[in-house]
Amino acid sequence: MLEPLSTVTRRFFSYLIDLMPQHKITPESPIGIFDSGIGGLTVVKAVQAALPAERIIYFGDTARVPYGPKSQVTIRRYAREDTEILMKHQPKMIIVACNTVSALALDVVEEAAGNIPVIGVLKAGAELAARRSRSGRIGVIGTQATIGSNAYACAIHGENDELEVISKACPLFVPLAEEGFIDHPATRLVAEEYLSEIVRRNIDTLVLGCTHYPILRAMIERITGPDIAIIDSAEAVACKAGELLATHGMLNRGSHRAVPHLLVSDLPQKFRELYRLFMGTELPDVELVGV
Ligand code: DGL
Repeated sequence: MLEPLSTVTRRFFSYLIDLMPQHKITPESPIGIFDSGIGGLTVVKAVQAALPAERIIYFGDTARVPYGPKSQVTIRRYAREDTEILMKHQPKMIIVACNTVSALALDVVEEAAGNIPVIGVLKAGAELAARRSRSGRIGVIGTQATIGSNAYACAIHGENDELEVISKACPLFVPLAEEGFIDHPATRLVAEEYLSEIVRRNIDTLVLGCTHYPILRAMIERITGPDIAIIDSAEAVACKAGELLATHGMLNRGSHRAVPHLLVSDLPQKFRELYRLFMGTELPDVELVGV
């Protein structure tokens, strides 16, 4: 389990050594998490469940969502700017709660984060899928950019090159999730169109390779049926973050359950409503930031 963390661990180690006075990191520092919109809240939820004492600062780039249909150049620019927004809050770690950025711009985030560790959802999801699949036939659904990059297939083959990966871009799932169409006939129609072929290809595992998709998980599962295991990279990345922090004595040992600090680049009120719908918990303030 330590092996896949080696790069992150090295960087973590060097940041402890090279701590810059203006970026003071302690176990009480927050974990920075970002996504293009509400999708990353699935990661926030998983991190809160796994590490309830951790402070979380979340940025949703609601002014520029969706990232999936955009070019690599644009996605890389957004990734840098998103990281810079979080860095102002002096996080002890960044979690890229966006598969599209994890696939196309993880190096940009690492550079902008300086010496603090960066974990992306994509690798965590790929590792979990490779471990769980019994038949060796894994389906991956994601945005156009993620599927077009082939990053999931590469990461899964990095775990085991005998696994077969069947991929499908499902771009309309992001606006449906952003719209809160969790149990809507339009979502069913779109999901049937996207998933019917991949289900016929005898996969035993389906990776939700976009953090917006777990919001539609119940609908997706109705179509894939009970024989296909669903992999949600949010849980995998939360577990990985906990291991990394524990290894380096950076876990927040407080007993207080912290409320996340939320930042968005547009429409904070809409974000608050969606937060209530998906998280079903007390409503934190949502701060508007410029991009
Ligand atoms: N939720 C993101 C992902 O995991 C981005 C979706 C989008 O903005 O298109 O890929």
